[in-house]
Amino acid sequence: MRKNISQCIDINSKYCPCLLAETNHCIFCSHLKGEATCNCNWSGVCILYEQHWQHKKTQQIEEPIKTRIEEQVEFIIKEQIGQNTYVLEFEVTTELAEQLKKIGSFVFVRCPNDPHFFYFPINIMKVEGNTLRVGVESIGPKSIKILGSNNNKLVVRGPYYNGVLGGPWIDNITDGNIILVAGGIGQAPAFPLAAKLMSNNNKVMAMLAPGKVGKIFIDKELGEMGVQVHNVPSLRQFGMPMLREWFALNPDLIVSAGPDEQHYGVIEAMQAAGVNIPMVATNNATMCCGEGICGSCLRKTRDNKIIRMCKQQTDFSKIIED
Ligand code: FES
Repeated sequence: MRKNISQCIDINSKYCPCLLAETNHCIFCSHLKGEATCNCNWSGVCILYEQHWQHKKTQQIEEPIKTRIEEQVEFIIKEQIGQNTYVLEFEVTTELAEQLKKIGSFVFVRCPNDPHFFYFPINIMKVEGNTLRVGVESIGPKSIKILGSNNNKLVVRGPYYNGVLGGPWIDNITDGNIILVAGGIGQAPAFPLAAKLMSNNNKVMAMLAPGKVGKIFIDKELGEMGVQVHNVPSLRQFGMPMLREWFALNPDLIVSAGPDEQHYGVIEAMQAAGVNIPMVATNNATMCCGEGICGSCLRKTRDNKIIRMCKQQTDFSKIIED
């Protein structure tokens, strides 16, 4: 499983090969990076082969390379959580809704009249039938437009999948003891992670804090799912010391949903307690295109690699602190 964790999130999906393979920048295939030999050691679908046939097909029928789905929707404000934080709900097509059930899913959104560079990413909190629920903080020029007066329309583009680093752990762990730490708006992406873990017969202890949002808003629903919920007023002051006690319960996995600062706090607590277990962390990289092209999400790792956080899975602890 550790091997699977450092690969492109789109591999084996209908969005592979992607624009990076087109331009000889594929994350995974050495040939499609311009190298002479194959060294991927991969037993799944050969990206080079797929790229070859896709190229032939597009030459024959002039079909554009597969990009994501784009839909215009009308949203409702389901709940105002804080001064600038809202839970929105809207309906998308079945095709898009089905593809957003995967762990780590997110979409880009913008106002219909805004140019394409207004797209910004938001995590999926819940998919029920064709209805999506998302948490949005309206703090920057892009998001403020959406929640401005007289607007109830959005353009949604997706699906994208790298919203969580270490997603395969969530998919594969069963009958485990899991610690989930969620703060502020991180509670929104924490929700589907908890739901998936509970559906796989895991025991989940959740530590929730209001963070900058100022409110704990998933505790009731997590409790109804069977999660043991512990609310704390501040993770830094109360949560991290409590976490050290929780490590005595021999957890199998720790999940941190919130800002990078919180993830580093969790790593520090693990190191202080001498705990070495896998960690799942929400992906907070700044993203503009989501396709590996624009470079806004690039981060450096401890082994001196530059990775595209919109596409590539990695252990959060390998990323160098900004
Ligand atoms: S968001 Fe553009 S390269 Fe990752």
